Amino acid sequence: MNDAVLTLENFSVSYEKKEVLHEISTAIRPNRITAIIGPSGCGKSTLLKSINRMLEEEGGVSCKGSIFLNGQDIRKMPVEELRRRVGMVFQTPAPFPMSIYKNMTYAPQYYGVGKKQELDRIVRENLEITGLYEEVKEELGKSALKLSGGQQQRLCIARALTAQPEILLLDEPCSALDVKSTQIIEDLLVQLKQRYTIVIVTHNLFQARRIADDCIFLLNGQLWEQGNTRELFEAPSRQETRDYLAGVYA
Ligand SMILES: Nc1ncnc2c1ncn2[C@@H]1O[C@H](COP(=O)(O)OP(=O)(O)O)[C@@H](O)[C@H]1O
Ligand SMILES: [Mg+2]
Repeated sequence: MNDAVLTLENFSVSYEKKEVLHEISTAIRPNRITAIIGPSGCGKSTLLKSINRMLEEEGGVSCKGSIFLNGQDIRKMPVEELRRRVGMVFQTPAPFPMSIYKNMTYAPQYYGVGKKQELDRIVRENLEITGLYEEVKEELGKSALKLSGGQQQRLCIARALTAQPEILLLDEPCSALDVKSTQIIEDLLVQLKQRYTIVIVTHNLFQARRIADDCIFLLNGQLWEQGNTRELFEAPSRQETRDYLAGVYA
């Protein structure tokens, strides 16, 4: 697909001798939310960690095949460039143990923004996008660790956006959050897709159904089925997909 933001071609991953992803080929389309679903251990996190090359920092890993970000082979990019272009948010909210303001200026400063006025603008704009600005504007100097779990996760999303990534990856971002915070983040992601391309791993099928435009079903390290969310949920073409959606694998 020519307009794909991310393309995987026969991408496989092994830990030591054990293959955990087998010849995954897919294309992630721009300005859409793509959900990766599948039973625990099927390789969802491994797939996300491959995209920003975090995986290579774990020992004993070998990869085959290719991943392209807007047409460029990610292995041929300096890793700092790749990590700027690929934003990542994890399951447990993980703000840096520093002030809200410093969390938000960390990446821009690293990438060379020096002017206080410019940094202030980046902080405000990205906190506004995530709805956090009104909640924290009087206490930007406060430790980010003092925020609630839901606020911390929104801060992590806002922080990821400060690097102006081409794609935002989220690995079960709501699984440690309450219902209200989950709803706020779901609404936020739906709003963000106007400007970003989003890939979310979720074990919550209701969440996938609520917010994802496209779904990828992984099973035993293989891309078992993918497609438009509604079609995949209403008319899966493979028995195993039907079983998973019916809760058989739980
Ligand atoms: N660092 C590692 N070393 C060895 N095996 C691993 C490592 N990380 C994950 N695995 C294995 O790879 C498979 C896929 O794991 P993972 O990508 O975390 O699955 P998921 O996120 O879908 O639950 C699992 O069988 C898991 O045990
Ligand atoms: Mg996982």
